[in-house]
Amino acid sequence: MKIKLENNKVFFENKGSKKEIHPFWLRERIDGVNFVDRGTQQRLFDPTTLKKNIEIKNLKLSNEFLEVSFNDGTKTKILIHNILKEFSNVNDIKSIERIKWNSSLKNLNNYEFNDNIFEQKKMYEALINFYKFGFVIFKKVPTENDFLVKFANSIGSVRRTNFGEFFNVKSKPNPNDLAYTSLPLAPHTDNPYRNPVPCIQILHCIENEVKGGYSTLVDGYTVTEELKKDYPDFYKILTEIKVRYQFIDKDIFLENWAEMIQLDEEGNFKQVRFSPRLDFVPLMEKEKLELYYSARNKISELYNSDEFRIEFKLAPGDLLMMDNHRLLHGRTEYNANEGNRFLQGCYIDYDSTEGKLKHLKKKFNYEV
Ligand SMILES: [Fe+2]
Repeated sequence: MKIKLENNKVFFENKGSKKEIHPFWLRERIDGVNFVDRGTQQRLFDPTTLKKNIEIKNLKLSNEFLEVSFNDGTKTKILIHNILKEFSNVNDIKSIERIKWNSSLKNLNNYEFNDNIFEQKKMYEALINFYKFGFVIFKKVPTENDFLVKFANSIGSVRRTNFGEFFNVKSKPNPNDLAYTSLPLAPHTDNPYRNPVPCIQILHCIENEVKGGYSTLVDGYTVTEELKKDYPDFYKILTEIKVRYQFIDKDIFLENWAEMIQLDEEGNFKQVRFSPRLDFVPLMEKEKLELYYSARNKISELYNSDEFRIEFKLAPGDLLMMDNHRLLHGRTEYNANEGNRFLQGCYIDYDSTEGKLKHLKKKFNYEV
């Protein structure tokens, strides 16, 4: 990638193709304290009010800078590096490669909490690992009631739902959700009936005196890739059929239609949804439904198999942060009479973790 000058025009050269950079594009990026706020990097002018016929009067190119003066009397000095960065269109988060894992995963991405962690390199490393593995566990987090809300709001903002700002997970009489019983919970993703689905779930263990009640995690990305390789027909139908997910209680009726395996615009993995107690496939031809049911059974078998699941016990003070678009979670059965088991949970969205990660990257001058 290179910047070149020719006949008072600026060109961008990449892999043998040469394209002119629009003079207005450069004018919009004019730098200097009169044009851009130093702290926020926001423009101090409105580019829609500028004359459209912006032309370049003079150009100068050095190794580091491009100097441009325009026909409206303004001039600027732009870092070449910054121009190239905009062309490469690199998303800091997308460039973190997911690491597929299964039951053989030994490193549970543990980070010890301290009061200043949110501004430390340790948090940056934890967030990088969160994007690589889909989860991270913080140890020794104070077991105060609703501390997880403080924790979540120190990364970004809590995503409030109809369950409240946070929810308590312990056995209780007349539960409105299976999560509040002591029964085992098969791997699932949370809240597929919401639009958008909460991105990240945080679970904070306050008390855990029972023998069972292990937390389980499955990498939906690994399972999806396995399904794609070994059962392409199943993969195809689960990426194509939009299923209705619903949640009903006395106060609310939530509903959302989405694929069980959702792909992005380039056909790559984006998100999984799995909660077979509340999914409703539309009425389709019998043959298509036959294939859909086989596919759902297969993916359920994979999600529930020992091959992909890790199990671990959350101790008081452990705080698990997991990607609800990528991972499935569950828990093993326990006997509520053995003692207390008390977890608190809440959600945050990707703008929180992405915002914090980019902030720390800038603060410590890191390249991802
Ligand atoms: Fe859940």
